[in-house]
Parts: sequence; structure tokens; C-alpha cells
Amino acid sequence: MFYDPRTGTHGLPHNPWTALVTPRPIGWVSSRSATDLPNLAPYSFFNAAATHPPFVMLSSTPRKDSLTNIETTGVFAINIVGAELAEAMSRSSAPVPPEVNEFSIAGVTERPCRSIDAPCVAESTVVIECILNRVISLAPKSGLPCDTHIVLGEVTGIEIADHVMRDGRVRTDLIRPVSRLGYLDYAVTEQTFEIPRPGS
Ligand SMILES: Cc1cc2nc3c(=O)[nH]c(=O)nc-3n(C[C@H](O)[C@H](O)[C@H](O)COP(=O)(O)O)c2cc1C
Repeated sequence: MFYDPRTGTHGLPHNPWTALVTPRPIGWVSSRSATDLPNLAPYSFFNAAATHPPFVMLSSTPRKDSLTNIETTGVFAINIVGAELAEAMSRSSAPVPPEVNEFSIAGVTERPCRSIDAPCVAESTVVIECILNRVISLAPKSGLPCDTHIVLGEVTGIEIADHVMRDGRVRTDLIRPVSRLGYLDYAVTEQTFEIPRPGS
């Protein structure tokens, strides 16, 4: 099948788009409001965006509390979701008013970040602390209406639990990160393999 999302329809009962670029890592975004209320929500339009120095990106459609908090305070953290946190992560996506603390809904422990004034998830084995670099609001050339905002965050601190490391390497099979597939589907990375680079 072929369809042009700008002008046509896929004709399927569910939009296939989010099932096509998978698996998507989940950035469990923790932030704080102007009035100091903690916030926690998953974003699967999320990724590492650069290495030297490290940046992350995430995408909000439409404007959500996390984006408001990030713009207001200039800081946020990405908590990596291990398999044991999958259900908690999902609970934290409930559409609740800003005054509701999603750490409580998720049933996870809030603790302060080290390099920024933002909360993070104590149970996450990897926490990436960020300052806001910029927000890019998408403006489609097709003229289609769009309320999508890409946050670029510069990493100021990375915390890795000792028990997901072996011999100086981070072990993905020990983190067991949850990723988003299409529809309501998820995957856990448990098996990994290595391919030496040609010439190395
Ligand atoms: C696995 C998962 C991934 C999600 N990814 C995104 C995303 O990339 N962008 C987005 O705007 N919403 C995403 N959502 C929905 C938000 O988590 C949800 O709207 C949440 O209530 C936003 O919280 P906030 O207003 O506190 O930021 C996702 C939800 C789930 C369960």
C-alpha cells in the first residue's frame, strides 16, 4: 500500500504511522512546575540527539505539562524505564490536571537530581539530567495544522546504577529497557549481540 499523509488517508482502522518507526525508546520525563509541583510522563518520540556533547530530544503533541514545566524551569530529567517499571510508566501517562503528582499515581519514589533542580525516579537505573537548549515548534510546509513541539535538552548529568554495569560497560540486557511499538504494544530489550566493526 502507499498513501500520502498530507493529502490522503491510509484507509486502515488504525493509523499505521507509529508502528513503522520502532522500537522507540521511552523517555520518562520528570520535571517541576513553577509552583514546585513534581511531574512525570512518558514520551516515546524521544531519543539521544547528539554525543559530543550529549543532547536529547523529545516531542510534545500538543503542548503538555512537561513542556510547560521545561520552558518555565529550564530543566528536566529523562528516566530510563526498565521492564520492572513498565506498568508504573503507563500509569503516569494518565491525563490528569497539573496539580496531580504522577509519581504517586505511578507508585515510584521521587528524589532530587544531582546537577539540576528537578525530581527524578529513584527506581530508574539510568537518569539523564538536562537543561533546556531550545524548543522547535514544527511548521509543516504542507500547511497542515500542527501543534508539535520538539524539545532539545543538553545533558548536565548522567547517573547509572552500578548493578547494570559489568567490566566498565553499561549492559543493556541488565537495564532491560522498555520501548514503544505501534498501537498499545511494547517491547523489552533483553537479548543483545555484538558485530565487530570492519577495520577495528
Ligand atoms: C508509552 C507512551 C509514550 C508516549 N509518548 C508521547 C510522546 O512522545 N509525545 C506526547 O506528546 N505524548 C506522549 N504520550 C502521552 C503522554 O505521556 C500523556 O499525554 C501525558 O499525560 C503527558 O503528561 P504531561 O502533561 O504531564 O506532560 C505517551 C504515552 C505513553 C503511554
